[in-house]
Amino acid sequence: MAEGVLFNFAGKLLVGLASLAHQELGLPWGVKEEITKLKDTFSLIKGVLRDAEEQQRNNNHEVTVWLGQLKDLLYDVDDLLDDFSTEALRRKIMRGNEMVKKVRVFFSKSNQLPYSLKIGYRVKAIRERLDKIAADGTKFHFTDSPIVKLLLQSKLEENVSIVPVIGIGGLGKTTLAKMVFNDKNVGEHFQLKLWVCVSEKFELKLIVEKIIEAATGSKPERDLQMETLQNILRGNINGKKYLLVLDDVWNEVREKWLNLRNLLLGGARGSWIVITTRSGLVAEITSTVLPHELEGLSKSQSWSLLKQMAFKEQSHESNASHFEAIGMEIVEKCKGVPLALRAIGSVLFKRTEAEWVKVKNNIVKYITQQESGIMPVLKLSYDHLPPHLRQCFA
Ligand SMILES: Nc1ncnc2c1ncn2[C@@H]1O[C@H](COP(=O)(O)OP(=O)(O)O)[C@@H](O)[C@H]1O
Ligand SMILES: [Mg+2]
Repeated sequence: MAEGVLFNFAGKLLVGLASLAHQELGLPWGVKEEITKLKDTFSLIKGVLRDAEEQQRNNNHEVTVWLGQLKDLLYDVDDLLDDFSTEALRRKIMRGNEMVKKVRVFFSKSNQLPYSLKIGYRVKAIRERLDKIAADGTKFHFTDSPIVKLLLQSKLEENVSIVPVIGIGGLGKTTLAKMVFNDKNVGEHFQLKLWVCVSEKFELKLIVEKIIEAATGSKPERDLQMETLQNILRGNINGKKYLLVLDDVWNEVREKWLNLRNLLLGGARGSWIVITTRSGLVAEITSTVLPHELEGLSKSQSWSLLKQMAFKEQSHESNASHFEAIGMEIVEKCKGVPLALRAIGSVLFKRTEAEWVKVKNNIVKYITQQESGIMPVLKLSYDHLPPHLRQCFA
């Protein structure tokens, strides 16, 4: 199959599933929930499909078999969607036709139940098959991360390239960078991997010491001169293809950045520095390629995360459906920021519906007024937002 065909097919089906999940077809709730699960797993798989199709091109037999199973399943989903639209059409015609109205009333109960049951089993069976395919697929280490793809590419202009990951506090920059850092393919690609937490204090000597510690596994001796530290640093990284993550950089002074950068340029071709930052200016000063602007979670990812925090694992499915309408309003206000969703989700644990409404009406208060735990982080990012963006959370 030509490259991208499955990806496009999956995209089309995903649109169908998404609209189905929102339609009122008179389906019992359990089926709707199954369709939502199916859609979520589907969307994850679609995310890695391009990578999978690329690996298939390299004649990876196991991947070809896996894609074959997925293709069969996609056709079954296509059939399922066809059946749903036929059924919807049938019901519409029934409704519109006065002549059959009485007959319909008579038959509807006996008619609808077997249909719902049948379709319920069918959706569940497909969902279970897809779950298995998704689980099998994890062994291939496909990636849907554009950053991983960026780091692994071979067409590079400079020896050491720099990509900033930019987004407000709590959006998931560090989490994303960790995922990239721990990715199996990334691990095999680089000779040296270094993780350095920078935070607000951007002091050259301190950062150089931290990089040396990451490279050698031990802190350099105290009170070494800068020149000695520079030599140790160069001795450890020069000529090696390295990946350096500088997490949480705030420094907006170009001169200070250039001083650090100059010490890092001796890496072998293909070396990368990933910088996470909340500041657009930091990104502008440091980047050699287009900065990666991190997006928040989608509505359905947000709702999953909120549910996960607000309900006990096993029981959450049935409880959560009751709270879904108000939950989605809260999700809307959290703007896809995982830290906000986690914080609000834990506030909602074991709360009544009335309390959910109260939280919904006071999101900013709950985000900014609690002094302990993760709240200050959110407050900090909230305080750093320009006023027009603050309104997003109001
Ligand atoms: N994709 C995600 N799904 C669920 N939780 C996430 C996700 N990304 C981040 N988180 C959680 O959100 C919180 C903030 O993430 P973090 O990466 O520290 O944000 P940042 O570095 O942008 O400030 C952490 O508790 C993290 O576990
Ligand atoms: Mg961070």
